[in-house]
Amino acid sequence: MSKNGKQQDVAAAAVGPEKFVGFFPQIVRDLVDDELHTPEIADAVDRLKMVIEYNALGGKYNRGLTVVATFQELVRPDQHDEKSLQRAMVVGWCVELLQSFFLVADDIMDYSETRRGRTCWYKKEGIGLDAVNDSFLIESSIYRLLKRHCRDQPYYLNLLELFLLMTYQTQLGQALDLITAPLSQVDLNRFTEQRYKAIVKHKTAFYSFYLPVAAAMYMAGIEDEKQHEHAKAILLEMGEFFQIQDDFLDCFGDPEVTGKIGTDIQDNKCSWLVVECLKRASPKQRQLLEENYGQKDPDKVACVKRLYNQLDLQAVYKEYEESSYQRLLALISQHAQQLPSQVFLGLAQKIYKRQK
Ligand code: IPE
Ligand code: MN
Ligand code: MN
Repeated sequence: MSKNGKQQDVAAAAVGPEKFVGFFPQIVRDLVDDELHTPEIADAVDRLKMVIEYNALGGKYNRGLTVVATFQELVRPDQHDEKSLQRAMVVGWCVELLQSFFLVADDIMDYSETRRGRTCWYKKEGIGLDAVNDSFLIESSIYRLLKRHCRDQPYYLNLLELFLLMTYQTQLGQALDLITAPLSQVDLNRFTEQRYKAIVKHKTAFYSFYLPVAAAMYMAGIEDEKQHEHAKAILLEMGEFFQIQDDFLDCFGDPEVTGKIGTDIQDNKCSWLVVECLKRASPKQRQLLEENYGQKDPDKVACVKRLYNQLDLQAVYKEYEESSYQRLLALISQHAQQLPSQVFLGLAQKIYKRQK
């Protein structure tokens, strides 16, 4: 942040998706060109390259771009050099790699077919459950990059601890998501609002929203725990809303646009839609849900969707989206006193009314 905490005249040219993706070949080169890579493991290094190139590209890059944009908001261009902007891009790619690691594993656990408009990695010919180890390789790549580019920086330990903690929180969230959705054991009583909030905060909000902003804060020299708590208060709320959207789009989105075919109903997931459905269902409708939720049969899935439409959940969602946006603006004015509110407003702008 600039000395007086206010924006100065010289705004940095924001790094857009083109420049960020243009940096990706450098990331791959760094990962391949590792002192640990002796000729005897050349085949494994080829595999790593293939895994990263398939799984880290094709998304929206929101998380990675947020690291760079936040860094640029916090450190004005007259106070940073090209090298530190490059380091912000590396850390942005580290967040994208963390996301790829989770998604490769998540698609196996959720029996998904497509991701970012392409076949899920584990579904590719000849890959199968070898994708489990591939996801580990992606995770480890994060720490190879951080060591190579940030080891000498004063924020290195903070970044390491942040990535490790966010990984743990996400894995706890994924555990909660999975144990709340046991296959062929439908129990609608599990799907409470309280459980829903715990799942989405952990599985999505920490790594998708707090992580990118917190990483940039550490890189800008902001270590103060109070500042991090203020940012977290806003970003966890944003993350909760983002996952509610994801749940809505799982059922009502266009797979051509989202790039993925929904599986939440057949997977027996504690989705925002089923929680809202249960709030509104008559005993008869609840019975119908009991008989049709959490099963592969397409007719049963269609039956659940019909019930969602009968209860007008698309309208319920629209209303929720509006009230959530207002709540978020209030949170931003309350918590973004020392931090530039543009960091949070820019993020909000990207996610509200999104179709993918
Ligand atoms: C998973 O949530 C979140 C993580 C990958 C950690 P979902 O299972 O709802 O994600 P999608 O819908 O498959 O992308
Ligand atoms: Mn999933
Ligand atoms: Mn989903």
